[in-house]
Amino acid sequence: MKELIELVNKKLDEYMPIEYPESIFKAMKYTVTLKGKRLRPVMCLETVSMLGGDINKALPAACALEMLHAQSLIHDDLPCMDNDDFRRGQPSNHKVFGEANAVLAGDALLSFAPQLIIEKSSDLTDIQKLKLVHEFVKFAGAFALIAGQVADIESEKTKDWNNMQKSPEEILDYIHLNKTASLFRLSVRMGAIIANANESVLNELDEFAKKFGILFQIYDDIMDEISTFEEMGKTLGKDVKSGKLTYTTLYGLDEAKKKFSVLFDECYGTIEKYHSEIFKEIANKLKNRILGE
Ligand code: IPE
Ligand code: IPE
Ligand code: MG
Ligand code: MG
Ligand code: MG
Repeated sequence: MKELIELVNKKLDEYMPIEYPESIFKAMKYTVTLKGKRLRPVMCLETVSMLGGDINKALPAACALEMLHAQSLIHDDLPCMDNDDFRRGQPSNHKVFGEANAVLAGDALLSFAPQLIIEKSSDLTDIQKLKLVHEFVKFAGAFALIAGQVADIESEKTKDWNNMQKSPEEILDYIHLNKTASLFRLSVRMGAIIANANESVLNELDEFAKKFGILFQIYDDIMDEISTFEEMGKTLGKDVKSGKLTYTTLYGLDEAKKKFSVLFDECYGTIEKYHSEIFKEIANKLKNRILGE
């Protein structure tokens, strides 16, 4: 895992130039290169590896995933969204570069990431590149990640759930599946495409990533209540204050932990089937934090 993270960090630095006008390139690189867990690129590379593919062919796609993730974080922290002053233990993008540059840096990352896939994936076929970019734009957009963010923001303002078309339980699952699982689905799907996996493997991994994404957001919701700034690198306790719909605000801490546990077991079944030590390491880290060793 450590080697994969270092490889991704080296490539991210290499792929991201600082040109004129420097303010935009610096703002883009700032959030991307701050210390994050690099889960999405690592999961993409590990998918390639466990399916017998060559991870060197997947480095542009892996870096594109981290850029898309950073874009979602930069915009998520803006005053008009979650209004968070810290990210990855440092001041948020808009706190350093101003709101206009933070909006533009997010936009620029969103378009630079697929550009990178096309320009740097010289070892992939044109069909593979087309498929990767198609997956990328689909999961980054209004049918996936953005849909989740919109429903998340709207949930803060909803006072009367009786007048909604869906129940709060259904909306919560919709939010988590879209705002968070989308990027994990994209990560394993891109990995499967690069490794030339067949449809049934791709679908199985996609189902796994849906569950893992929801599991990961339940972890994040619980950590918002029980963790510290030092551990998470962001201001915690805000979900309750802002009236956000999360697993802990809807079900309470104990029930959220139970749901985490059920979903963890479901995810672990797939991980064992594919004998992936790295997926095991990632899943167990989350579990140890939520349920103890
Ligand atoms: C944060 O993701 C956003 C959520 C989906 C909860 P991560 O917890 O993976 O953030 P980094 O990449 O480690 O900063
Ligand atoms: C993360 O949701 C989803 C995206 C950034 C797309 P949160 O709003 O809970 O993430 P944090 O807690 O700010 O990292
Ligand atoms: Mg948010
Ligand atoms: Mg947030
Ligand atoms: Mg959160």
